[in-house]
Amino acid sequence: MGRLVVVGSYNRDTVLRVPRFPRPGETLAAIGLARFHGGKGSNQAVAAARSGAQVAIRAAIGTDDAGAEALALWRAEGVDAAAVERIAGVPTGEAVILVDDAGENQIVILGGANDALPAQADIPAIAAAALVLAQLETPIEATLAAFRTARRSGAATLLNAAPARPLPEEALALTDILIVNETEAALLLGRAGEAEVLARALSPRHARGVVLTAGAAGAFWARGDEVLHVPAPPTEVVDSTGAGDAFIGAFAAALAEGLAGREALRRGVVAGSLACRRAGAVPSLPRREAIEALLAAGYQEG
Ligand code: RIB
Ligand code: NA
Repeated sequence: MGRLVVVGSYNRDTVLRVPRFPRPGETLAAIGLARFHGGKGSNQAVAAARSGAQVAIRAAIGTDDAGAEALALWRAEGVDAAAVERIAGVPTGEAVILVDDAGENQIVILGGANDALPAQADIPAIAAAALVLAQLETPIEATLAAFRTARRSGAATLLNAAPARPLPEEALALTDILIVNETEAALLLGRAGEAEVLARALSPRHARGVVLTAGAAGAFWARGDEVLHVPAPPTEVVDSTGAGDAFIGAFAAALAEGLAGREALRRGVVAGSLACRRAGAVPSLPRREAIEALLAAGYQEG
């Protein structure tokens, strides 16, 4: 089994449950408040570890209590945190998340220590990795440094271009598999469109193609002339926070295990569906047994 290294963020999530999202200038009463571990990088690392992968994380946290809690999380989940930096004088990342009755969310992030993740090429975990996975909640220079090392040592590079923002040319050039949702794909292309069309349009730049996650419609993987589509099982949505991260972690773990196209995509889609069924990011990330059980229960594609 190949090792996966995640270069990315940790946030402490404060989640307010609301009946609906407020309008500008409006004050709303929340139904409840809860705190969870979050951050796309950490969520994806934990999701991959729960899927059975051997995972290391490269992240930056503060010297505050939230940073200590992040380290405790990674220890408990078996995620190697030797390459994590603790940065004095800045807070650990924070996210404030509103979740409405439909399970949709709105997220505001204070990057804090995430924004100070240093770009470093000589990280032993990266030189020994089979796969390196990054998102856009940490400085792009840190991702570029990691991806350049990955390229030299023959590791595959996966970029989840989330949250949506423009990317330097080199980031796309160094990405073997780009993973995006429809919003992120539309931003990179400069136009909206159907999921499959967006995936096809982005795919020629990436040796191993583009994976596009499409919520209830499941996921598409466009590579060369081929497009795989795996629909999602019908799911009651309690809180979609972390669903994308569950997909990506399980998908990356499947690749690290040597699973091929459709099999890897199915693992991801099922993990994303399971994550919609529970509140919070980390509490909702499924374990391997739950993913396998739903696959074995005869979940039919389409
Ligand atoms: O993808 C969900 C995550 O996005 C949350 O955990 C929040 O911290 C933001 O980073
Ligand atoms: Na969730």
